[in-house]
Amino acid sequence: YAYCLGKVIGAQGIADKELVDLSAKVAQVHQRLGEQRQAGDLGFMDLPDQPAQLLETILEEAARLSSIADDLVVLGIGGSALGATAVDMALKGALRYAQPAGPGGMRLFVADNSDPRFFGSLLDRVDLERTAFAVISKSGSTAETMSQFLVVKELLERRLGKEETLRRLVFITDPAKGNLRLIAKEEPVPILSVPPNVGGRYSVLSPVGLLPLACAGHDIQALLAGAGAMAEACASPELEKNPAYMLAALNYGFYQRGRNVLVMMPYATDLFGLAQWFAQLWAESLGKAQSLDGSTVNLGQTPVAAVGATDQHSQLQLYMEGPQDKLIMFLTLGNYGRDLSIPDLYPRIDALSYLGGRSLAELVQAEARATAAALASQGRPSYSLRLPAIGPEVLGEVIYLLELATVMTGGLLNINPLDQPGVELSKKLSYGLMGRKGFEAEAKQMRSLDAG
Ligand code: PA5
Repeated sequence: YAYCLGKVIGAQGIADKELVDLSAKVAQVHQRLGEQRQAGDLGFMDLPDQPAQLLETILEEAARLSSIADDLVVLGIGGSALGATAVDMALKGALRYAQPAGPGGMRLFVADNSDPRFFGSLLDRVDLERTAFAVISKSGSTAETMSQFLVVKELLERRLGKEETLRRLVFITDPAKGNLRLIAKEEPVPILSVPPNVGGRYSVLSPVGLLPLACAGHDIQALLAGAGAMAEACASPELEKNPAYMLAALNYGFYQRGRNVLVMMPYATDLFGLAQWFAQLWAESLGKAQSLDGSTVNLGQTPVAAVGATDQHSQLQLYMEGPQDKLIMFLTLGNYGRDLSIPDLYPRIDALSYLGGRSLAELVQAEARATAAALASQGRPSYSLRLPAIGPEVLGEVIYLLELATVMTGGLLNINPLDQPGVELSKKLSYGLMGRKGFEAEAKQMRSLDAG
């Protein structure tokens, strides 16, 4: 597998002995995860091995949409959005919208906010005659996504007529229930399923991520192959032989010592979406009030998405001299896929001439090493995931690695990494405020809060 977990550096590193002590606990959680998987609760672990028939259906639907549209707008939020952005941004680049759609696949816009200023301007900018919409909601009831769907449907019907509107849509939702299923029974919109045992933030390798990514022209088979390779590499119950468990043990060990903040800092602008995807995965999975035995614990390590070298010139000051509560996870690249050499234009100016003849890749790699060393000099720990390059296989590996590390960390913390009661509560209170039937108690709760 194509990554390497670098040495942890920093005066407060985890000693080998501590890892040995943790290995028994890791093996116990491994067994519990195995039982949960057997019981069908860890569906994300099966995603690398999806039936060929399903992949064919996804590719066919992507081909259909690409034949009628240049742009695909994803209407979805949270786990129904962040994975597609992460992979599309990594593979096409952060500046992907600066060029028109071409043979490389559709342009992918992920509209993960019902903020009218943002969503309105997106609708103004795309050519509706050449745009398709993927409505992605596992529950089929999330207010942000469903309201966007209603706005878009009316707009398309006015512009293109009812029949053409249905051709521009695809739904991705629960296989049996929810409003999108209900609508698709009456209106023939193509519909793909989110496996019921795969939660939103673990769903990027299901149709939730695969359909938009296939539309955008990405090699989804390579993505899954990478995830499969990582699944194989992470089969062992032994901490030292399982990179996902090692990652979990390190993060858990540092969290136990008061490292309450985990900063993911890729040294590549195009990987910023991946850091944001990880922030959701880590926060929503591990931020929990209750432990598995029902006691109140209020646990969780706060994730922060940063990017190097950019944030060396902003957040780094805090990481160097602020509270001793942070652990930094660097993502470094062996090969940037391209490089620019730096010309020696001013040989007589020492402060510039040392750059002449070097390259931008050399510089950014040096920046990553220098930042890790600077942190270590102040007793601040960091480690690196070293990726050979950005590509679909590597992304599949990293995605699976981080997902498995997350559920292992949840096990070590003795919390449930698969639920999200806090997120659900805010959804319900919004339903109450907006007058949804069945949420009168939440509406009342909001009125009393407002009065207070
Ligand atoms: O990870 C999760 O479960 C959440 O972030 C959901 O993905 C998010 O709330 C959207 O839910 P849905 O897909 O039901 O619209």
